[in-house]
Amino acid sequence: MKNIKNKKIAVLCGGRSGERAVSLRSGKRVFESLKKQKFDVIQLDLADDLITTLKKKKIDLVYIALHGRFGEDGCVQGLLEIAQIPYTGSKVLASALAMNKLAAKRVFDAAGIPTPRYVPIDQGTDIKKTAEKIKRTFPFPLVVKPVSEGSSLGVSIIKKEDDLERTLAKTVKEYKDVLVEEFIKGREVTVGIIGQDDDLQALPVLELVPRKDFYDFEAKYTSGLTEFILPARLPKPLYEKVQATALAAHRSLGCYGVSRVDIIVSAADHIPYVHEVNSIPGMTEHSDLPAEAAHAGISFDELVVKILASAY
Ligand SMILES: Nc1ncnc2c1ncn2[C@@H]1O[C@H](COP(=O)(O)OP(=O)(O)O)[C@@H](O)[C@H]1O
Ligand SMILES: [Mg+2]
Repeated sequence: MKNIKNKKIAVLCGGRSGERAVSLRSGKRVFESLKKQKFDVIQLDLADDLITTLKKKKIDLVYIALHGRFGEDGCVQGLLEIAQIPYTGSKVLASALAMNKLAAKRVFDAAGIPTPRYVPIDQGTDIKKTAEKIKRTFPFPLVVKPVSEGSSLGVSIIKKEDDLERTLAKTVKEYKDVLVEEFIKGREVTVGIIGQDDDLQALPVLELVPRKDFYDFEAKYTSGLTEFILPARLPKPLYEKVQATALAAHRSLGCYGVSRVDIIVSAADHIPYVHEVNSIPGMTEHSDLPAEAAHAGISFDELVVKILASAY
């Protein structure tokens, strides 16, 4: 840690995913925090000539503040591995697993971590037939979502049987690989995980109460559209079970340094169902992870330095 202050750091943000705008906000905030703390830091957009730029600017260490495709899915991590430049957070495999909700759910199933029941659908699927089968075997409502997106982009809640086939066709056309999940009714919570090895720590559980149907893009990034309850209104044993489940999910994918685990605690059976692990959680002023850290007495600046330390 001592010599990090002498390292030249690049905060990598922007990129080409659907979450570019969010990443620019996360990146700017991280950059400003590091600058304020007297680190030698620049802000960099993800571009084709990334490695050339990093070498030219003599960057020692990359803080990845990208979200979504190319930044959160192992691609940029692989590039940095080849260039032998240390970077924050999860490595290639864990990043790729976390970004792919289908792969992640298969790992959760194998590890005994509860996750909503699902059917994978891709461009080769007979959508009409599959929709009929789903109608026979799943209770409504259902959730349709892209396998590899974030910020609730492309997520639909299907309440009427008649809407299933059309929504599936539309989502497959736009995103190719898609999941249909049973809708879990209950409390939506999210749990940040920070630290590494013996130091791994689950942050306080944040409860999200969207004023709309579900926690969609608008609810995530417009203030006032979601009520944040911290700590979540759960009895102590359940609260602790949620944290333990989040830690187990983080470990099962092999995440490193930081993640945020999205969970719905079912009203019917009190089981915490993991619907996804975000390997690069948002760091904007509205984001969940910084709020949870603050509740645990960890300031934004401290959180940024903790994540920075995961590069070693
Ligand atoms: N199985 C589910 N049951 C109920 N709500 C869900 C389910 N899956 C997703 N959602 C809702 O959709 C939102 C986005 O889904 P999520 O799987 O977290 O994808 P993203 O990567 O876009 O955040 C969740 O925060 C939640 O509000
Ligand atoms: Mg989510």
